Amino acid sequence: MTEASFQTVAYMLAALLFILALAGLSQQKTAKRGNFLGIAGMAIALVATIGVALLHADALLVSAGLMACAIVLGGAFGVYKARHVQMTEMPQLVALLHCFVGAAAVLVGFNSFLMEPGGYFDGQMNIYHLGEVGLAIFIGGVTFTGSIVANLKLSAKISGKPLTLPGRNLLNLAMIIGYIALIVPFGMSTGVEGGLPYLIAITVISLVLGAHLVLAIGGGDMPVVVSMLNSYSGWAAAMAGFTLGNDLLIVTGALVGSSGAYLSYIMCQGMNRSFTSVILGGFGDTPSKGSGEAHDYGEHTETTAEEVAQMLKDAKTVMITPGYGMAVAQAQFPVADLTRKLISEGVDVKFGIHPVAGRMPGHMNVLLAEAKVPYEAVYEMDEVNDDFEDVDVVLVIGANDTVNPAAETEPDSPIAGMPVLRVWNAGKVIVFKRSMGNAGYAGVQNPLFFNENTDMLLGDAKDSVDKIIAAL
Ligand code: TAP
Repeated sequence: MTEASFQTVAYMLAALLFILALAGLSQQKTAKRGNFLGIAGMAIALVATIGVALLHADALLVSAGLMACAIVLGGAFGVYKARHVQMTEMPQLVALLHCFVGAAAVLVGFNSFLMEPGGYFDGQMNIYHLGEVGLAIFIGGVTFTGSIVANLKLSAKISGKPLTLPGRNLLNLAMIIGYIALIVPFGMSTGVEGGLPYLIAITVISLVLGAHLVLAIGGGDMPVVVSMLNSYSGWAAAMAGFTLGNDLLIVTGALVGSSGAYLSYIMCQGMNRSFTSVILGGFGDTPSKGSGEAHDYGEHTETTAEEVAQMLKDAKTVMITPGYGMAVAQAQFPVADLTRKLISEGVDVKFGIHPVAGRMPGHMNVLLAEAKVPYEAVYEMDEVNDDFEDVDVVLVIGANDTVNPAAETEPDSPIAGMPVLRVWNAGKVIVFKRSMGNAGYAGVQNPLFFNENTDMLLGDAKDSVDKIIAAL
């Protein structure tokens, strides 16, 4: 087998493994396998790329040493970060990782331009090549600064408030027009001296645009932004693939780019947000519709862990709908214990997961898998939303907006139209929450808490579940 065909076969195999990895990751049951397939694909890709690069290296030892340093340093940083990150810090870590992809695309673009500014291509081909370089650097630059700002906002190192400069949308438009006006003469340019000033100007515009786009978005919309930056980082990698003539990078980048874009779309649907409005910024702080004026819902009733334990003992079917509060309290482990205990006593226990429960896609699924809750018991919202009438007791553990009936009944509510879990149709609803004073993420009151068939179990969710287990 020739060196080129070895690389082609390895790249095809790696691309196939990446596709299978994505398919695996789409379901909790197969997620672990998906992860391993992705790791295997990346290992094959690295071996094929590094092996062939080393075969062509002028100074083999120096090149091998440099690559080894890069791999050891990058690998050590990755392992350190992955081992130390808290589950609640995951979105900012992901944002940080995207900034590396953006930086890589910018550096690859510059490298490609400075090493062969038109030298390898003639006429029209050179225009294409320079176009690729300019686009890779532009998307990479936006991803780089956008991801850094997202990381800083999510880790509360800078304010999460949207920066609302006057005429900010016009400013963004002007930068995009500026980019288009620069990429044309850049494509026509010859030699380093001819093209470099345009390329530097494109880079500066992309860096400012990325920072400004994300600064203008409210902290609350950051998860959608992180997923959008994930998509950008994929397209930046794909562009770098064109620049380097590397098919695998093109395929992988396109996979990341399209899956990230689709994920952003799903998240916006789950929150009933318009994707364009989120991206255009400043949306997170203002209600989408109406004023969400205060309503008088009456009095709430409270219960105790002992009473809930008795209720659960008497129940035939129990549905648990976890939310952000379960993550805050780290209550997933006692919740898993409670589930096992109830199942062993013949109770039918199911979990109903809202698509945007928590603060990132799949947040609840990851926590429940961590606590080894059986996969068969975990259902998506659409699979269980019509079944609540047959459920004896619903345990709403740290969820609020995702179980708020106002989304269906109050057209003036800021969350009107957001799909919600219809827990109120069950026989009895127990809401785990620390106090009646705090609202959920959307900042609106929840009429569910005042329903006749709802009892509030106030206190930290982990303590409450521990007490229920003790009482059982
Ligand atoms: P939220 O509406 O955020 O409500 C969280 C609930 O947990 C509150 O009732 C809070 O009340 C309670 N809580 C917090 N800490 C607790 C603790 N230690 N013990 C017990 N309870 C605790 O949660 P949700 O229903 O999961 O909804 C998620 C929200 O985030 C939605 O509005 C969604 O649109 C938004 N969002 C989600 C995503 C993704 S992708 N998941 C992305 C962006 C935005 P107390 O403070 O009184 O305890």
